[in-house]
Amino acid sequence: MKKIAVLTSGGDAPGMNACIRAIVRAGLFHGMEMVGVRRGYDGLIEGDFLPMDSHSVSNIIQRGGTILKTARSEKFRTKEGLLEAKKRLEDANIDGLVLIGGDGTFKGALAFSSVTNIPCMGVPGTIDNDLYGTDYTLGFDTALNTVIDAVDKIRDTAASHDRLFFVEVMGRDAGFIALNSGVGCGAEDILIPESKTDIAQIISRLEDGWKRHKSSCIIIVAEGDIEGGAYEIARKVKEKFNHYDTRVTVIGHMQRGGSPTCFDRVLASRLGVAALEGLLNGQTHEMAGLINNHIVFTPFAQTRKHNVDINEGLLRIAHILSA
Ligand code: F6P
Repeated sequence: MKKIAVLTSGGDAPGMNACIRAIVRAGLFHGMEMVGVRRGYDGLIEGDFLPMDSHSVSNIIQRGGTILKTARSEKFRTKEGLLEAKKRLEDANIDGLVLIGGDGTFKGALAFSSVTNIPCMGVPGTIDNDLYGTDYTLGFDTALNTVIDAVDKIRDTAASHDRLFFVEVMGRDAGFIALNSGVGCGAEDILIPESKTDIAQIISRLEDGWKRHKSSCIIIVAEGDIEGGAYEIARKVKEKFNHYDTRVTVIGHMQRGGSPTCFDRVLASRLGVAALEGLLNGQTHEMAGLINNHIVFTPFAQTRKHNVDINEGLLRIAHILSA
């Protein structure tokens, strides 16, 4: 193997740049020629490649987003797109790929293997933390800290005005961001898609708090919890429980941006080097992850999120601590 390409795909996540840096520098360390692919799989199809040296990844470890840009490619889902990408890689003499992204990215790599046997290794990059085969994905920790910071500020208003706030956080159809940020900010309740949302139960908890003279409350809602999200839950709760002045805040894409935490930078560095070295060791179609602080490789086919269990214990802790 002589020439390796790296790309970021799917939603951007803090830590992707730190990971690009790790992959490029580790490749150069092992004598490889390194190439960046712009705009994920779309760039692969269009041959949007740029040579990368050590200097090209200087001063990016602290930056959010991805210097390579990213995309959710529709064309890569077609046979035509896959064949075009294969030709571009062959024309550029690229003989290995490192992919940073989520389950859509790894699904794309599996589809790609139907037209080419180019080796590919992956790094989990998504704020949602919804991949099997790693305790943490790149960007999850930073997103949590962004949520905590936002909710701490919202709590100032909630406490000053005696209000009930429903705060909606990202996570697509998974509740990891909601669950962990909810415990971290001492939320009165946490609503996630993995556990059934029962309006009567939410009201019963709020009533208990009201009786104990709780003057304000924060309820964290995962965006995938119910159709209509936090607005719909707030509406349903207000129909039957109206003691508090109620507001809804959707934190939104703020959660995807910003400088990565130290945790995400270290994770990105470890997983980037592991994926690159895995590729050089002859591994393919595996994601480098971190389980119990050890590097573990999981076949792309097993990284799908339906294999991930939510930590029910955390939900219990949240309810005990807010009672
Ligand atoms: O997968 C990351 C994520 O931010 C999800 O939490 C969210 O549902 C989705 O991407 C939003 O995607 P987009 O930026 O394409 O609207």
